[in-house]
This record gives sequence, structure tokens and C-alpha cells, in this order.
Amino acid sequence: MDYRITSYDDYRKKYDESVNNPEGFWADVASSFFWRKKWDSVLEWDFIKPEVKWFVNGKLNITENCLDRHLEGNGDKPAIIWEPNSKDEANRVISYRELHRDVCKFAAVLRSNGVKKGDRVCIYMGMVPELAIAMLACARIGAIHSIIFGGFSARSISDRLIDAGAAYMITCDGAFRGGKTIPLKDTVDDALANSPGVEKVIVFQRTHNPVSMIKGRDVWWHEEMTKVDEAELLPAEEMDAEDPLFILYTSGSTGKPKGVVHTTGGYMVYATYSFVNVFQVKQDDVHFCTADIGWITGHSYIVYGVLCAGCTSVMFEGIPTYPDAGRFWEIADRYKVNVFYTAPTAIRSLMAYGSQPIEGKNLDSLRVLGTVGEPINEEAWHWYDEHVGKKRCPIVDTWWQTETGGIMISNLAGITPAKPGFATLPLPGIQPVLMDEQGNVLEGNEVSGNLCIRFPWPSIIRTTYGDHERCRLNYFAAYEGMYFTGDGCYRDKDGMYRITGRVDDVLNVSGHRIGTAEVENAINMHTGVLESAVVGVPHDLKGQGIYAYVIMDVMPDDDAHTAADILQTVTRIIGPIARPDKVQFVKGLPKTRSGKIMRRILRKIAEGETRQLGDTSTLLDPDIVTLIAAGKK
Ligand code: WTA
Repeated sequence: MDYRITSYDDYRKKYDESVNNPEGFWADVASSFFWRKKWDSVLEWDFIKPEVKWFVNGKLNITENCLDRHLEGNGDKPAIIWEPNSKDEANRVISYRELHRDVCKFAAVLRSNGVKKGDRVCIYMGMVPELAIAMLACARIGAIHSIIFGGFSARSISDRLIDAGAAYMITCDGAFRGGKTIPLKDTVDDALANSPGVEKVIVFQRTHNPVSMIKGRDVWWHEEMTKVDEAELLPAEEMDAEDPLFILYTSGSTGKPKGVVHTTGGYMVYATYSFVNVFQVKQDDVHFCTADIGWITGHSYIVYGVLCAGCTSVMFEGIPTYPDAGRFWEIADRYKVNVFYTAPTAIRSLMAYGSQPIEGKNLDSLRVLGTVGEPINEEAWHWYDEHVGKKRCPIVDTWWQTETGGIMISNLAGITPAKPGFATLPLPGIQPVLMDEQGNVLEGNEVSGNLCIRFPWPSIIRTTYGDHERCRLNYFAAYEGMYFTGDGCYRDKDGMYRITGRVDDVLNVSGHRIGTAEVENAINMHTGVLESAVVGVPHDLKGQGIYAYVIMDVMPDDDAHTAADILQTVTRIIGPIARPDKVQFVKGLPKTRSGKIMRRILRKIAEGETRQLGDTSTLLDPDIVTLIAAGKK
């Protein structure tokens, strides 16, 4: 980890170097990894096409960096400490050696079931170590994993399976979450009814609830593992630096979720580099990231970055409030967690329980705290600082995205200054710019604009799976020669960055990204719905809530009942995370003459503003606004 930034001066120096000589800078960082063959050139790029290649013609396997590399000196060190949902069940401590063996064995299982390099494998599991084993086993043989968050519906799964052209799935019989048992395999079975392309499903047994196993298609994980001859384990597949490592679906402002593609070499280098520097990790650190592996945060900071750095990753199956709101703190004490990384929404929900669940907990192993996924409000920041960090742990507010692969703007714990509400400064290698609507770069400080990045970094999105034009249009077309993040941002007098939220039609509910168009499409599938419009509204716990305006062909007699039915449809089509908090039935929607819905007005009404709605003169039917604001249908 000789690329670790050690002081504020060092940060300045490295930042300048990364701008003046990016290739030299990244070659230095990359050289501390294990490559089967070194790259010919560091970077080739063109943001117009767009096309970006890092470590061109370098050969490697990421799992040799996550696992094999540590066996000699650290084989017995815990790689994963798994804390089950129930406190009555035993935990599991998996050493690097054991994880390596299980990954190699499961890689052999995948091969014997027909999976080859380049094949797409969808994974739909709860938070069990086998989820990490499954993804690493895919990477071991060069298959491209696409993990689907366990809260998504059958319909969302089949959309992703079809888009990725996946012939293989890995799942669990079920998952434990708090007091609930979630029947994952049943959901997969429903999904597969609509995606006949899947040939094989490997099922890990977790809950032992009854499941249907289809002959010729479904096999049990534990049975397959016993068939592997450990003496004949195959070596890792040699991958090109630019071979895809995984696809992860995320929401955009239009249409269905898009499959963000990350490649092997650049993603590995940046996930690890950012992990080491932002959290200032030390070799024997225990890192507890509370995200689900179904999101990018879990990919980079539970699995790849943490294991590449040779640290110990705590993986928690359950939820923060089960059996009580002291669970995170108990885990932190029990495993002597050094770095704790969570979302503001989790902090806010725990704050609501007061300080009692935290009293009596030691928390003295904690050294660094982090947040991710949404802006953190000052109240939550101070509570975190005082009650969890006891005012002695730096808090890193990390801004990044599925598309960026790793943390982009954040303070570096204890090295660069923190400022509540600010992600602060870019990591060396990251060149943010603020743009106005006309496409001008906003120079200087105390300016607000749309956040773009003007130079590639190693883990930048390469394409959206199966549709490169969509990638270009979404990220590279708004501002020529730049990557556009979709976020608004303010740069203060000291040059520090504060993320102000999405400027497109993407919502951020409890740190989860959801497209308004996706929710609208789901609502529109409900019988009797003619049209709908969805906007985000401030929400105390979730950050943002979902407010839906719905036009029915016949106005319901019982609003509450029909609204509940619509929520059920949204849950079925997308999943519970996309359920609107409020449904208002309306006669019409405020549209411009060209048919565009004026969400600005709907947002204001959702926030309770009924008078100052701004200019409505361009609307086709301005009276509709008065009706909606008065709650009339
Ligand atoms: C938002 C999650 C403010 C932002 C890693 C971004 C944040 C979107 C922060 C990406 C932060 C993420 N402060 N906003 N520290 N981190 N966001 O793809 O709007 O699930 O564009 O990646 O979350 O969400 P995604």
C-alpha cells in the first residue's frame, strides 16, 4: 500500500501529480498489484465516442489479487467475518485460505455446470458468505456476474436476466431479514417463467423452507460442492485488463434500469486505491460496511476493495433494528471494528431510538466512520460524531456512483479536513468541474452547477450492457468531452464540494436509486390507471419519499383502498423499495403544450406549497394546477 496518502501536503502533491502526469501516477498505483503480464500503455481514451481503456493489454485475475496474494503471509487471517441475522446462530469466521479454497471449488462447480468465460451469471441471494464466494468464483473463471438486490421483484429479475442474456443463476432457498423469512427461490421461479433463457440455477440452502427444484435446471449448491475433486482445481482464468468483471443494473432518468459495465483491471485498482486512502486503512483493519452486496457499495467496499487490500470484512445478514437498535454497535464491539461505513438513512433511523441502545457499548475500536449514498444532514452528522465516534473518529462523507465504481469526492480520514454536509475534496486522479446549463465551465469558488468529471479514472463505466449508445447519451452527450454525473453541486469559498442532489428524474430513497419513469411504468400497469407522474418529496428518515399523482379512468370511491392496490402492483413490478409514500388521485397533470409534465409544480404541491407555484402560463390547462393543489379529483 505504498500509494497511501500520508498527510495533507502529500495529498496536494499527489493531486497535482495525478493531473500533470496521470499515466505515471496510475502506473505507480497499479504496480503494487499482481499482474500476470504488465500493460503496454496505461491509458487510451476518447470521451466523445466514448471509449476508455486502462492498463491496455495487461493480464490478470482479480481473485489472485483478492485471495492468492495473501495466502503466504496472511492465509489464516479472517477475510470475512459473517454475522447472522439471529443472535442465537453461530457466526462464521472465514480465513483467506478457506475463502480461497471455497472460491476455487465453487469456480469448478460453475465450470462443470457449463459456465464459461464471458458468460453472464445472475446472482440473487441474501447476505451470506456464499454470495461473496459466488461472485469471486465467477471472476475466477472470467464469467461476468450481475448481482440483483434481494429486495427486487420477479419482474425486475427477469428484465435483468433478459437484458444481460444470462443463462445461469445462483440463488438461495430463502433469506432471513429481521423477523422475516424471504422466499428467494419462489421469486426466482416466478422470474424464470418469463425468461426461458436460463438453463441452470444453483441453489444455496439457507432457510430450509420448502422449495421447488426443477429437474435438469435446478441443482443444490451443497451437493455440487461435494462433487469437486480438490486435487484437480483449475488455475484462475487469465483476463485482459479490459475484460468485463461485472454488470450492475442501476436506475436512470428514463426507461428500464441500465446495466453498468465495469472491467477487471481499472476497477480493481480504483476500488482498492480509494478504499485504502479514504478510510486510511491499516493492514490488520476490520472493516464493517453495512450495505447490501446487491449495490455497488457492497461490491467495492465489502468484497473487492477490502479483500484486495488484505483486510477483514464484516458481513452482516440482518437489519440494524433486529432484535434491537443496538445491533450495529454490538457487532462493532464484538469484532473490534476499526472502520464503520453506512448510509445517512440508517443513522437517522437509529437516531430516532435515542442514545439508549448505544449506551453501555464500548465502541473504542472504531477509528474511522463513513457515510455514503445521499447527502447527510447536519443533525445526523453530529449525532454520528458524538454518539458513535465519541468525537474522536473522523467522518468521511463519500460521494460516488454505481458508474464511478469507487469513491470520487471525499475527505481522507484524518488527512484532509472534514466539513459537515460536504463531500469536500476530490481524490487524487479525479478532476471535477461544475457546468452551467449552457455548457460553460464555472471557474472559481462559491458557484453551483452540474457536476461533471473531465478526465477518466480507472473505474469509470465502460458501457451500458448491450447498448453503447445509451451510455453515450446518458453520460457523455450533455457536456461534450465530459462525464456527466446527474448531480448538482456547490463549490464553497475553500474549494470544497457539497453535493446538492440529482438534477435529473432520479430519486434517492433511503440511499437507493430509483427512476421516476420506472415507478410510473409500474403504476401505469395497474388496472384502471390512465397516467401517472411521480416526484420526490423530502422525508425525515428516507431523505426522499415518493409522491405519486395518478389519473384513473374512473375515479375511485375509496381512495385509500385503490391506493393500497396500486402500491401492491408497484411492489410486484419493482419491489418494496419503490412503493410510493403517498398516492393522490387527480383529474389531469400539468403539461406544457408539447406534452411535457411540469414536475417542478408537482414537487411543490407534494411539499405542501399550494400558492407560490411559479409560472404556469405555458401550461396547456393552468386550471388543473388549482385543482391538484386543492386536492380535488
Ligand atoms: C447520491 C451509491 C450526496 C448521488 C454509491 C449519486 C450522494 C447517487 C453521496 C449514486 C454523498 C451518493 N452525498 N449524495 N456522499 N453518495 N450520492 O449509484 O445523487 O446507488 O448520483 O451509488 O447517490 O447512487 P448509486
